Amino acid sequence: MYSSKITGLGYYVPENVVTNDDLAKLMDTNDAWIQERTGIKERRHIKKGDGNSTSIMGAKASRIALDRAELSPDDIDMIVFATLSPDMYFPGGGVEVQEMLGMRTVPALDVRNQCSGFIYAISVADQFVKTGMYKHILVIGSENHSGGLDFSDRGRSVSVIFGDGAGAAIVSRNESGEGGILSTHLHSEGKHKDELSLKGPSTGYWVPQIIAENPQEDIPYYPYMNGQFVFKHAIVRFAEVIQEGLESNDLEVGDIDMLIPHQANLRISQFIQHKLKLEDDKVFNNIQKYGNTTAASIPIALTEAWEMGKIKKGDLVVLAAFGSGFTWGSAIIRW
Ligand code: UT7
Repeated sequence: MYSSKITGLGYYVPENVVTNDDLAKLMDTNDAWIQERTGIKERRHIKKGDGNSTSIMGAKASRIALDRAELSPDDIDMIVFATLSPDMYFPGGGVEVQEMLGMRTVPALDVRNQCSGFIYAISVADQFVKTGMYKHILVIGSENHSGGLDFSDRGRSVSVIFGDGAGAAIVSRNESGEGGILSTHLHSEGKHKDELSLKGPSTGYWVPQIIAENPQEDIPYYPYMNGQFVFKHAIVRFAEVIQEGLESNDLEVGDIDMLIPHQANLRISQFIQHKLKLEDDKVFNNIQKYGNTTAASIPIALTEAWEMGKIKKGDLVVLAAFGSGFTWGSAIIRW
């Protein structure tokens, strides 16, 4: 059995900054409400004509990660692409990135686990590297939320939270055998699938059917979120899956050097920090600048934290996520 490690990181966000005041021009909301409830000050949105899409942003983040890993696209043995906002209903973003980067006919796997998508994707990559089947895997989380949100008053409790962006990591065979990805822990609970969901377009809600057969107030083609319900489950599951990861490696909360939680809501991160009694410099948040970028949030935050020198060799880094499904997970990494 081999072990795996992250050898390259990159992220990309669109240039277009959308402040809370900008959103207040579109819907009945305000900067004070958004900051108080979520911590978000601004987010990035793709602008029509700026050349971005979920897969294109994923490819941009990937190029940076490849450079930092000192690898070329030819070195990659597999792509794992996590998103809830693919460019097309099918095929998924993995094959699009493969084509954009001019890669060999390597497998491209698409992961659909929403906010937990990156943790699921890292876990898949980790298993393939551990067995020795593949040496270098490109793992991507990318989202174009702004293309599908309801920016009217009706959608305000969802639309103010989400932003666009992409992050990528290269998971490679850990040749030195020192540290690396120690373990990953994944969960789901389908009975809560409706509490944070987007119902159409799908085989249950093709677009003409939505328009023809559903009343005006039935809007399955915009995301629905039972915010408080999701919040309450998030704070329990985050803490649980972090503890699970630590215990399975005989580690304690005090061993954590850096926790990178999925950037769902600053209040959720603060709650977890408080519950685990972690000092401020042991938890990294950047939701203030980017909003909630779902599958992209962890790789963007991980890359930023690493670029800022907040993650050093030997550090214990914990990644954790919770979201639609519900699904949740953690990854315990010795950097
Ligand atoms: O990343 C995937 C997982 N997602 C999450 O973890 C998100 C979890 N949930 C949350 O983060 C929070 O529940 C939200 C930020 C979504 C909402 O915060 P909240 O404190 O739960 O607010 P609420 O939904 O209970 O709404 C409180 C009030 C309501 O008005 P009334 O009924 O008290 O008069 C809403 O209509 O705030 C109103 N409201 C808004 N006001 C201004 C809802 N959205 C807005 C808005 N601007 N954008």
